[in-house]
Amino acid sequence: LTTQPRHVSEPLNPWAEPAFVTTYERWADPQSTKLAKVAFDKTGVEPGSRILDVGTGVGGLAVLAAERECSVVAVDSSDLMVQRTNTRLAPFGDAHAIQMNARALDLDDDDFDAAFSVFSVTLMPHRDASLREMVRVVRPGGFVCLVHWATPYGHPIFGIVLDAMEQLELSRPGAMGPPIAPLENSHLVHAGCVDVSITDIKLPATLPAPTSFLDELGPILRVIPGFSALQRIHLANLESLVAHKVTHGGPWTLEATIGVGHVPTSRGRWH
Ligand SMILES: C[S@@+](CC[C@H](N)C(=O)[O-])C[C@H]1O[C@@H](n2cnc3c(N)ncnc32)[C@H](O)[C@@H]1O
Repeated sequence: LTTQPRHVSEPLNPWAEPAFVTTYERWADPQSTKLAKVAFDKTGVEPGSRILDVGTGVGGLAVLAAERECSVVAVDSSDLMVQRTNTRLAPFGDAHAIQMNARALDLDDDDFDAAFSVFSVTLMPHRDASLREMVRVVRPGGFVCLVHWATPYGHPIFGIVLDAMEQLELSRPGAMGPPIAPLENSHLVHAGCVDVSITDIKLPATLPAPTSFLDELGPILRVIPGFSALQRIHLANLESLVAHKVTHGGPWTLEATIGVGHVPTSRGRWH
């Protein structure tokens, strides 16, 4: 082993990097939006509803809700994500994005008919505080809907590259940190929801062509510890192993969980 994974050159916050945002919009957003659409349709949101999207990214669910004639507030901690979402929401009347921290929403109680979060608050260390905030801002009788990964490393691109890095001894097993914990009913119940349901969903994943995989996804793959420190020779080896895995592995699927919890029609203000 000649190259130990290094963490020093990892960006502090990849979500705030322009190349990350561009790559995210090209590769990740269309796929998370496919899953978000299933969640949106499953919950039967009426046109005219007031919708909150927490951790909106480049606005996949927010744009979908605006297209369905809802009024939309989208929030994200990354200024660049917020700017991009506002550009996408510009054609719609009552829809905009604001930079805000999910764990302390600067929004009124009972202000929304529903709050969504797609691959965002359930992945955060302050998941429970953020879920309580989502419940607080939804009116009694409204609902909270979460879309969460049902696989240990989320989108299959991460599993493919991690696996190849470990095989080439460019990364230690476990370097990515603990696997993503499953979404459970209790997460929504503890946040104050009733009538909670959890559903699994599986859709085909789209991957870049095997030969351009690392080039296309590079800015996103920097979230893998050690990836951005790899030297040219290691990248070349990694590229051919990844291309082999993409070509001969699969089928590649997006495996997610949709959680829906209702805000009680009468509730005490415990928060
Ligand atoms: C994996 S992305 C999901 C984006 C989008 N919902 C989607 O499905 O494509 C997670 C998003 O959560 C945002 N985020 C991370 N921490 C946050 C926080 N504390 N408050 C608000 N947004 C946060 C990130 O900036 C990023 O845009």
